[in-house]
Amino acid sequence: MTRISMTVDGVTYDDDVEPRTLLVHHLRERLGKVGTVVGCDTTNCGSCTVLLGGRGVKSCSVLAVQADGMDVTTVEGLAGADGELHPVQRAFHETHALQCGYCTPGMIMAAVDLLSENPDPTDDEVREGLEGNLCRCTGYQNIVQAVRDAATSMRAGTAATVDAPAQASPAAQTQGVTT
Ligand code: FES
Ligand code: FES
Repeated sequence: MTRISMTVDGVTYDDDVEPRTLLVHHLRERLGKVGTVVGCDTTNCGSCTVLLGGRGVKSCSVLAVQADGMDVTTVEGLAGADGELHPVQRAFHETHALQCGYCTPGMIMAAVDLLSENPDPTDDEVREGLEGNLCRCTGYQNIVQAVRDAATSMRAGTAATVDAPAQASPAAQTQGVTT
């Protein structure tokens, strides 16, 4: 057994794991993060996607020991502390971008990763960005629309945040530039 420590959805967990344990199994079976699902276990479907160190990874392709000392975000950690959905979660809901929902946790995490790199993707860029995530139900059209809608919403939120310091005191503006 190997001692590891990782922060998952803002909580730090120390645990002993077998070196062969996959991250997805550690998340689900040890930490109870069952929002992250296993669709294939062979790195094909993307349903197990989480953010590891801020980047999307298929957690069935990573050993738990490889996540030692790192931050992991699962779909369960996206919503705000007050329960407010992440813009990508809200867009999937409002756009009906799911049917059975099995692919949805991975799709949402892959979309969050995509939008962190490209905040204004075209339809083709969304399809390319999510090509590692398979959906057998929706035909993808509403998923692409949800990601585009989330991008619009997130850009509007960023613009509001960027505009805010202009209304603030000079001291606050300085702090905003340096943080
Ligand atoms: S369960 Fe990880 S890619 Fe399918
Ligand atoms: S909604 Fe069923 S697999 Fe995507």
